[in-house]
Amino acid sequence: MNAASSQFFAANLLVVLLTAHGAALAQSEPTALVDQQHCMFCHTRDAPFLAPSFQQIAERYRDVPGAQAMLEHKLRVGGKAHWGDTAMPLPPDRGGPITRDDAHILIQWVLSQ
Ligand code: HEC
Repeated sequence: MNAASSQFFAANLLVVLLTAHGAALAQSEPTALVDQQHCMFCHTRDAPFLAPSFQQIAERYRDVPGAQAMLEHKLRVGGKAHWGDTAMPLPPDRGGPITRDDAHILIQWVLSQ
């Protein structure tokens, strides 16, 4: 392989990698997000631990109008505690900032538990 063709190869590889990365981001799998945001550090699906379980949260809010939007907002910018005295730590203390879309996906997932 001469210099020009290896450069071409490298450029192509980069495109492939970027495309794969973009696809993974676009999908935004809830479980990947849950991992990335360390939700399970304090929550579990079905047993209260350091925080209410996602099933308890789903039960409480499933039929509450506006709950989805309220919880998405709270996930991103915080708010007062609804379960006890300890509010949930803000995104910078969890795993990093969280986009509107990701908050939407996460809360939708939580409420489906
Ligand atoms: C460091 C611990 C911790 C982490 C990490 C954490 N939470 Fe929480 N979460 C809490 C605590 C404590 C509460 C109870 C706060 C309250 O009383 O409103 C809570 C409450 C909630 C609620 C209910 C809020 C309400 O107003 O009733 C939702 C929804 C929620 N968490 C989702 C998540 C999601 C999704 C993640 C991951 C992005 C996450 N949590 C990560 C500790 C945590």
